[in-house]
Amino acid sequence: MMSNIGSYEQRLKNFDWSVSEQELGYKKGDPINIGWYCSDRICKMGKGSKMALIWEDFKGNNKYYTYDDIRTYSNTFADYFLKLGLKPGERICIFMDRVPELYISFLGILKMGGIAQPLFSAFGEESLLTRLENAKTSAILTQLKHVSKVRRILKQIPHLRHIIVVDAGTTALKEREIPFNMEETTRVDKFEYYKTFADTPSVLHYTSGTTGQPKGAQHVHYSLISQYLTTKWVLDLQPDDIYWCTADPGWVTGTSYGIIGPWSNGVTQAVLDSGFSSDRWYAFIEKHKITVWYSAPTAIRLLMRDGTEIVKKHDLSSLRHLCSVGEPLNAEAVLWSKEAFGKPFHDTFWQTETGSMVITNYPGMNIKPGSMGKPFPGITATVLDPISFKPIAQPGKVGLIALKPGWPSMFRTYWNNQAIYDSKFKNDWYICGDRASIDPDGYFWFVGRDDDVINTGGHLVGPFEIESALLEHPAVAESAAIGKPDPINMEVVKAFVALKPDYEPNDDLELEIMNFIRKKLSPLAMPQEIAFVKSLPKTRSGKIMRRLLRAQEWNEPIGDISTLEND
Ligand code: WT7
Repeated sequence: MMSNIGSYEQRLKNFDWSVSEQELGYKKGDPINIGWYCSDRICKMGKGSKMALIWEDFKGNNKYYTYDDIRTYSNTFADYFLKLGLKPGERICIFMDRVPELYISFLGILKMGGIAQPLFSAFGEESLLTRLENAKTSAILTQLKHVSKVRRILKQIPHLRHIIVVDAGTTALKEREIPFNMEETTRVDKFEYYKTFADTPSVLHYTSGTTGQPKGAQHVHYSLISQYLTTKWVLDLQPDDIYWCTADPGWVTGTSYGIIGPWSNGVTQAVLDSGFSSDRWYAFIEKHKITVWYSAPTAIRLLMRDGTEIVKKHDLSSLRHLCSVGEPLNAEAVLWSKEAFGKPFHDTFWQTETGSMVITNYPGMNIKPGSMGKPFPGITATVLDPISFKPIAQPGKVGLIALKPGWPSMFRTYWNNQAIYDSKFKNDWYICGDRASIDPDGYFWFVGRDDDVINTGGHLVGPFEIESALLEHPAVAESAAIGKPDPINMEVVKAFVALKPDYEPNDDLELEIMNFIRKKLSPLAMPQEIAFVKSLPKTRSGKIMRRLLRAQEWNEPIGDISTLEND
């Protein structure tokens, strides 16, 4: 097999994104459509009968789809959306478990010029509502098991014209609901994709910040140029690979590297629509002879907890290359993976906003366990002084991770929130919101986030969203949410709650409030602990000082509290 890996230094020299454009046969000004690139183009290259998707459910049942299958099925979705009256530019939400329809409809939406809005299917009604309301979403694709959540918020989202249920069977549907069975609909062989161009919006991924509700990072079709090349060079996908990305497409890893990356490279990918268990995961790798595996530190720590004995029960010799993303990959996890699989996990750093990897442990590069690696070719990254916003020259000094805008998959705005988008730039640098240092060899070392966002198991959760939901509970007068340290998930949510006068703290109430959040938002956002307090520390202007609560929780210096009101 021809390797994709040139040396890192060699790739850096005279790098230009046109390398990727040329490989994809794209010229400036041409139409570019991710849906077409991920299916039709691969078929045109004579690989129509190659396997695109190997799918497995929690029971171990498999379904197989070739590139020609995903081409024609995505055509069928695209054609159906147009017949429903959906127009290019409208937001179409995908709210499904990891079923084949999720992956294929994503291409269908892009082919008809729609903006795909994937949302994690474990989201509760409130999480769903804020995101559908913000995007003024026109249609949602979902499964029977999730439709009740949509029904409960229907009155508040009059713009949502269609609720497309992909597995309705003979079940009677309700207002605005309509059944669509991908495999039982006559396949559309030819579909002229809507002429999208480099700057045409493609995907809207919601992500959480410190303040306010989640924001929709809006991407464009040109993002393909970065996603294709980082997949090829960092994940090192080659024609015979069987690739497994463990991320759910409700999060950006699951679309950039769980759909667009592998399929634009014409590679076979496997999807496991089932929860985590070490044995199950190893059996999946063994059964499908997975060669390249992209996962996350929390999962690796869970595998570590179960030890290497269980690894030995499986033949994992197919594994060739391992990568990780989403949270700090501790040095022990890298060393353990060498022991368990004979290969290290390669850490990669990026964000919903960056659309593709920006700092990576490039294959072949010397890995320093615990470091995120170096900037991908074409990415200018640095750390900035937090006051002057100027690059820090001194190696080892901690600053704010910042990137020079201009790579193809950079997000273009936050949907309906240009002001917050603008606030992310200082001195022409895009500020990621994370802190790191750079060593004398140019390796980046992650230190922590520079805001109050909670990273639990690689998923960002916004404290504001949790606090707002807590306030909807009848017993809650005031609330604050922070991350508390956790050996597996890095952080879990801890809530501080001051009760209304008529309520007394007790275990039942704690459990009730936890479940309230789990149902309204998601299992990720559910506090693992609630501390009942008399009142919360506030600034003189009345803002709750999460920073203080967090410092206490992490045993860190409290810092400047001169604006504190109730001290
Ligand atoms: C935030 C972005 C894009 C991947 C999935 C998450 C944290 C991401 C790393 C890493 C330490 C990391 C950062 C970042 N993060 N990768 N390799 N080491 N932290 O996308 O939900 O937008 O989260 O995840 O804090 O800003 P996201």
